[in-house]
Amino acid sequence: MKKLKLKYNFKKFPYEIINNSNCILSYILDNCGLNLSDCFFICDKIVFHKYIINSKFYKINKDKIILSLVPGKKDHKNFKSLIKIYKALDKNNCPRDINIIAIGGGVIGDIGAFAASTWYRGTNLIHVPTSLMAMIDSSIGGKTAINFQKKINSIGTFYDQNKTICNIGFLKTLPNEDYLSAFSETIKVALLKSPSLLNKLVNNPKKIKTKDPMFLMEIISKSVIIKSKLINEFKPYSLLQTKVCLVIAKQTFPVLETNLLFLKKCSIFMDTSAYSFYSYYVYISSKLSN
Ligand SMILES: NC(=O)c1ccc[n+]([C@@H]2O[C@H](COP(=O)([O-])OP(=O)(O)OC[C@H]3O[C@@H](n4cnc5c(N)ncnc54)[C@H](O)[C@@H]3O)[C@@H](O)[C@H]2O)c1
Repeated sequence: MKKLKLKYNFKKFPYEIINNSNCILSYILDNCGLNLSDCFFICDKIVFHKYIINSKFYKINKDKIILSLVPGKKDHKNFKSLIKIYKALDKNNCPRDINIIAIGGGVIGDIGAFAASTWYRGTNLIHVPTSLMAMIDSSIGGKTAINFQKKINSIGTFYDQNKTICNIGFLKTLPNEDYLSAFSETIKVALLKSPSLLNKLVNNPKKIKTKDPMFLMEIISKSVIIKSKLINEFKPYSLLQTKVCLVIAKQTFPVLETNLLFLKKCSIFMDTSAYSFYSYYVYISSKLSN
């Protein structure tokens, strides 16, 4: 277990990394000192069926658990899902001091946080990310959103979580495409701030492939610490920063070397996410295919 205190926006946010195969609901209650009647769970449908429905804890406490299930697909990050959540909150007379607990990937995190930020003008919020993207990115930083009229994240708020509980045990069942694509975010923060993190990523393809728990704990903790520093700096990455990253990458990331010319040309047109996505692509294709 790793307990972090992320510091940004002049506040401290507990971020805990665990590797737990027991029922996550009972872990959350014990860990946060809550009773079931204090909690409203919003859970990804797939995660619910894989990790919760068959657990002893769920079977025993089924009637006392207040739960809203939402499919974790981006087409469901909308008003329809939000209204379903508000109706469940209303039906169960959830007060303003209810703890909204969002268990799922970035979609559930964003919509759950949006619901928490608006129900009675703001309730407690606990993020329990189950995808790598949610673990390293969307469960910290306070951005909430739903999509509207085909516009992505067009309605949203800024609202901080009280805590993030990151259980890397969930990653076992995350589809490979979702798992690997989240590394683009880690590579981005590594390129911007940490050559040593970059080195770790490029030198450990086997640990990435096998989802080595100790390795993932280290990567996730380093990524969220860097991300919180970037939030504090509060400025968009400039082209100059991107170019500095390229120089650092050239020294620490030999796999990329042959592609640097291409990347340099592209960096004029690309933002850093596209750039880091390309880095990720080169990295994955050259290393993981071995
Ligand atoms: N708020 C922020 O700062 C922020 C940052 C980055 C991304 N986002 C948002 O996050 C969303 C993308 O997040 P995502 O990549 O996690 O996608 P997602 O939530 O759609 O999850 C991807 C898929 O994996 C499934 N899944 C999740 N956890 C699983 C598990 N443990 N086992 C099996 N299946 C699992 C989901 O049901 C879904 O089908 C986008 O809507 C994006 O806008 C928000």
